[in-house]
Amino acid sequence: MSVDDTSAPKLWTPPRDVVRKATVKDYDALRATAQADPQAFWEEQARTLKWYRKWDKVLDDSHPPFYKWFTGAKTNIIQNAIDRHIGTATQNKLAYIWESETGEVRTLSYFGLAREVCRFGNVLKSMGVKKGDRVTIYLPRILELPIAMLACAKIGAVHSVVYGGFSVESLHGRIEDSESRVLITADGGYQRGKLVPLKQIADEALQRAGIVEHVIVVRRTKEPVNMEVGRDYWYDDLMNMPLATRGNGEPCPTEVMDAEDPLFMLYTSGTTGKPKAIVHTHGGYQVGVATTMRMTFDLRPEDRWWCAADPGWITGHSYIVYAPLILGATSVMYEGAPTFPYPDRWWRIVEKHGVSILYTAPTAIRGLMRFGEAWPNRHDLSSLRLLGSVGEPINPEAWNWYHRVIGKGRCPIMDTWWQTETGMFMIAPVPSFPLKPGSGTRPFPGITAEVLDDAGKPVAPGEEGRLVLTSPWPAMMRTIWKDPDRYVSQYWSTFPGKYLTGDSARIDEDGYFWIIGRMDDVIKVSGYRLGTAEIESALVSHAAVSEAAAIGVPHEIKGSAIWAYVILRAGFTASPALNEELGAHVSREMGPIARPERIEFVNALPKTRSGKIMRRLLKARAQGLPDGDISTLEE
Ligand code: WT7
Repeated sequence: MSVDDTSAPKLWTPPRDVVRKATVKDYDALRATAQADPQAFWEEQARTLKWYRKWDKVLDDSHPPFYKWFTGAKTNIIQNAIDRHIGTATQNKLAYIWESETGEVRTLSYFGLAREVCRFGNVLKSMGVKKGDRVTIYLPRILELPIAMLACAKIGAVHSVVYGGFSVESLHGRIEDSESRVLITADGGYQRGKLVPLKQIADEALQRAGIVEHVIVVRRTKEPVNMEVGRDYWYDDLMNMPLATRGNGEPCPTEVMDAEDPLFMLYTSGTTGKPKAIVHTHGGYQVGVATTMRMTFDLRPEDRWWCAADPGWITGHSYIVYAPLILGATSVMYEGAPTFPYPDRWWRIVEKHGVSILYTAPTAIRGLMRFGEAWPNRHDLSSLRLLGSVGEPINPEAWNWYHRVIGKGRCPIMDTWWQTETGMFMIAPVPSFPLKPGSGTRPFPGITAEVLDDAGKPVAPGEEGRLVLTSPWPAMMRTIWKDPDRYVSQYWSTFPGKYLTGDSARIDEDGYFWIIGRMDDVIKVSGYRLGTAEIESALVSHAAVSEAAAIGVPHEIKGSAIWAYVILRAGFTASPALNEELGAHVSREMGPIARPERIEFVNALPKTRSGKIMRRLLKARAQGLPDGDISTLEE
């Protein structure tokens, strides 16, 4: 190995055979065509899908920023994700190959998936769930998670998936805000061989949220759990009742939806303590996710696609559930931890199932990298032809390892920049396009982005500024659930008419986009998006805490780690035991992912004269950097 092997190349040109076989051969030309008439571009993409009724208008921009796509059209994403495959050869294809942490494999064909979704749709209807009702889903990474999401969509209900790594207060807040009367959960899940007591967490959350009438419990661990008579039902009991099969296997009709009807809401972290639910719709979303996956990941019928995210995040919604199913792809889904029981688990899965495209996050790569090359080298990874990255900027070391050790120098890495709010890739390459490691290359066809200074003027090439999106796109969020004003003020008011991403970025001389990171109070910890205010409010909910501040500091593997500063109430004294207890408290309330890596007891927090905590200053001091501008400080 030469010294050069440890650093990524400045420019990587894809091998000739990759270009020859690529769906999109001239990316810049396609982008130019799309730019000349974006609506025509999206309309052409929409025509590749089925609709009950076609649109009157591609884009209704009469009330910005409340854009509407494919208005007048009737559809349901299930029509494309499931229904249209039935009766074709695809019905016999595998939709999912699922592997449990213990190595058990369960497969589901498109036909089988359609059956399960129909049954569960009927179960939900029997519980009184109707079009427009919200259903909260709190499940581990098992096939019942996509089944539950798809069943909701089929009957026109709006799913709200809460990631299985969240805990009592996060779940409670999300159930209450969404006003869900039905909760779907499991007796438990497995993570690194340990049991996660989901039902117990859900029971605690339900004590705080009185509005849930029915709880459907999937049997996963078979550990005894509390089942409340009249409220809690076993999933498999319900699925085997005549009400699910309707006696003779009568199907569950797919509800005809308006293109703009909501498909799901997904909570994400922002700048306040209150999580906000991002709303996505049936029509534009299906066009956006299918087009981006088809072009960027160049999906072919023989591919075995593995998006290693959790279905509980937007990555999973768009690229484990909806886009792959619309394209008739075969997806691999793995229940557990990448290092269980050994650090070669992922590479074992790639080999065993012949994965051809692997899509994951830089934090996972960095985490696996530290165990050394011997683990992947023990496996035949020759089935891989494309790799993907998402969630945070990928550093050159991780890019190089991923490219050289996993992709054997052959596989292009599709670095996709997007957000819960955007629903689909916004800045991403295609396999035929020359890559610069660490850059997502260019905005996707039909997408326009700029980097602005604080006055709203585009910065010069190479200069850092605020990343904005300057025109609407079909899979864009439509609003924040129950808070349209916040949608306008947070995303569309800083630079009127432009969507503020919250990220800083630069564009180089060749027009390549480089994402630098969040500019707001959002922290990306191991790719998970958390808000400083949420962590602070979890800390303050402990009896000993009077004030708290949370910051993100650079971390080699996680990207950022959470550090917290705490002022105790009178009568409480700082001690290692209390420190430990506060960490455990955050973990219990929000989930283990939010537990601060370090908690420091302090007597005061740096604040501005108006009383705002100066997290920027805490962050600089934590890293031993100069204070910067402290003219507004009143310590
Ligand atoms: C934030 C959105 C959308 C999938 C998962 C994250 C960061 C996302 C990249 C990338 C650099 C990235 C941004 C963004 N981010 N992808 N390829 N390169 N940064 O969704 O939880 O809504 O987080 O993730 O900071 O704003 P999310």
